[in-house]
Amino acid sequence: MNVLHNLVERLERLESLDKAALPLRAGIGRAVRPRIVRNLLSGTALGHALHPVLTDLPIGAWSMAALLDTAGPAAGPAADLLVTVGIAAAIPTAAAGLNDWSDTRGPESRVGLAHAAANSTALSLYAVSLVARRSGHRRAGRALALAGFGVLMAGGYLGGYLGYAQGVKVNRTAWRRGPAEWTSVLAETELAEGQHRRVRAGEISVLLVRDAGRIEALDSVCSHMGGPLEEGTVANGCVTCPWHGSTFRLTDGNVVRGPASNPQPSYETRLQDGQIQLRARTPAAGRY
Ligand code: FES
Repeated sequence: MNVLHNLVERLERLESLDKAALPLRAGIGRAVRPRIVRNLLSGTALGHALHPVLTDLPIGAWSMAALLDTAGPAAGPAADLLVTVGIAAAIPTAAAGLNDWSDTRGPESRVGLAHAAANSTALSLYAVSLVARRSGHRRAGRALALAGFGVLMAGGYLGGYLGYAQGVKVNRTAWRRGPAEWTSVLAETELAEGQHRRVRAGEISVLLVRDAGRIEALDSVCSHMGGPLEEGTVANGCVTCPWHGSTFRLTDGNVVRGPASNPQPSYETRLQDGQIQLRARTPAAGRY
């Protein structure tokens, strides 16, 4: 196993970080409670997480600045501009990242905390670099930016680990497909109006809801982090996940409230010979 991976695994076990994480998580939780803020920072309208999209901006700007810093005095103003652009872009990027981090626990939370600390250090180094550049200390400004770039790469490695090794913000329903053929899952009499329950349909589990005379079916595993939707709250034509409060519309699985950014797979239903049947939606029937 490579050295970096070993180091991050040690970080994952560093329970002492939890003390620092607890109050920070509570504060962020309060700040992102309004639905509009939660949806915006989670990338709900985008259909996937916002944070990885935004990271391209500061990384791209600061990478180009590093290149221009080696290109001689004529490139100085362009490098300064890119350092400024990177600083401005880092602020919404950090806000989206902190929103994602506030839902993590245990090893993911510890790696996320180190990721945030590294990127905050990089941001501070770039801010001081900009001050140095503007006050005529160009050599010091370049050195500070170079140090910031090194720390940024370390932060980037941890960010990659969070997504690709720990699966933070990965759509938990990405590989779940409903049965292609109509499949009986429950006797019709076992689901009264207003009731909901979890059933199996081939390889997957499904949340069935009888709501306003219709039978709706959504995948029971929350797309955000895998929460059990059958333990959630059903109200106003939506189900709310018990883990972090993502709310999905029953008719089509669309996200009404984040932190989920991926819609919940929804399935077609029908009544046949006293049985509730379901199948994956065909393209003609709409999104699945
Ligand atoms: S697991 Fe996070 S909202 Fe469902």
